[in-house]
Amino acid sequence: MMDAVKAILTELKVPPDQVKTESFGSAAPSPAAAGTTAKSTAPATGPLVTFSKNNKSSRIHVDQTVLELSEELDIGIEFSCRVGTCGICKVKMTSGEVEMAVEDGLDPEDKADGMILACQAKPTGPVTVEA
Ligand code: FES
Repeated sequence: MMDAVKAILTELKVPPDQVKTESFGSAAPSPAAAGTTAKSTAPATGPLVTFSKNNKSSRIHVDQTVLELSEELDIGIEFSCRVGTCGICKVKMTSGEVEMAVEDGLDPEDKADGMILACQAKPTGPVTVEA
């Protein structure tokens, strides 16, 4: 239903930053439950992600989020919804670029300050976050 309403709002030319959604389930394929992130046996070949406060870095798996990698490395980024709406997993990205399917948990000020949603962030190149 949200996808249908978003499509209608887009047709009506409502600016995307004025469209807010709230979800209480997973809209995408079900993410792993907390603490049960499946570990791939293949070596990660994606961009290097650095967690500056923990002084840890690792390459990320294709389609893995910054939050999922942080769980593998025991970084301790807090989270709740895992679908991009609550904003609990906000972290500051000090370098790099990420793609996020859902950014509802960020307001314009967060974005201006370089905050990302770790549960949605998929790096497109080397990334450093303050975590
Ligand atoms: S855990 Fe809710 S926005 Fe990431």
